[in-house]
Amino acid sequence: MEIKLTLNGRPVTGSIDPDCLLIDFLRDHGCLSVKRGCDTSNCGLCTVLMDGKPILSCSMLAARAAGHSVQTLEGLQEEAADFVGFIADQGADQCGFCNPGLVMNTIALLRENPDPTDDEIRAFLAGNLCRCSGYDGQLRGIRSYLDSRREKGDSRHGA
Ligand code: FES
Ligand code: FES
Repeated sequence: MEIKLTLNGRPVTGSIDPDCLLIDFLRDHGCLSVKRGCDTSNCGLCTVLMDGKPILSCSMLAARAAGHSVQTLEGLQEEAADFVGFIADQGADQCGFCNPGLVMNTIALLRENPDPTDDEIRAFLAGNLCRCSGYDGQLRGIRSYLDSRREKGDSRHGA
């Protein structure tokens, strides 16, 4: 079957088997940031945005994305660049395998809630598993990014 969707702002047409998962479709189209960690909807590594909302691409048929807009980290480099350095500065990036999923969910969080509390950050990112670092470094990185944004009075994000 043929599907058409918008991938990172560009129209894409693909010929797929009906049981093709969105994660495989995206990786076949060059979006190698989308990682497969569990395949059981438990790790968050395969998170992408569909129509601006985070979804697990390992748990969705590619056919269901037809007609929708899908974004991966490849298409959100500028938005991610704002805060990934803060996360790395806290030593939260070790093997880095979980990083794209974490970044995608952090982007979704900050779009929805530009000034979250620590508890809100923890709750939103609870589905992102990391085998290496624990979660405190990631929380500290996001917190220090938000603090620095507030100090700068950055109104772009509503802070
Ligand atoms: S690979 Fe999709 S949630 Fe783990
Ligand atoms: S840094 Fe290795 S899984 Fe998170």
